[in-house]
Amino acid sequence: MSERFCVGSLESLSESEGTQVEVHGCPIAVFKKGQEVFAIGDTCPHMGAPLSDGFVDEQSVVCPWHGWSFDFKTGESPFDEDVRVPVYQVVIEGGQVYLEVEQPATEAKLDSSES
Ligand code: FES
Repeated sequence: MSERFCVGSLESLSESEGTQVEVHGCPIAVFKKGQEVFAIGDTCPHMGAPLSDGFVDEQSVVCPWHGWSFDFKTGESPFDEDVRVPVYQVVIEGGQVYLEVEQPATEAKLDSSES
């Protein structure tokens, strides 16, 4: 089961830098390119830098600490095919940007026990 979280308006997002949001304690980096928005895990798998503080190019973000890059669409790093960050679904409706995030197992279990 997935949940939807509002990031804000498409207009409010910067194209030159990432935006960090937190969902269930999990940091997510959001990047806008034109009329598209991408969301990936915000924690660099190398040493934990926030990718939302990274340098943004046409289709990837470069980690601000040691320069690994990650594709917005796939979460993959061109340096090593085994290194990647999670990718999250983004929905834009009525000018608002939403993340579709899987509900944590513990909460899904609580919800199902209530019905
Ligand atoms: S922490 Fe990201 S490349 Fe080192």
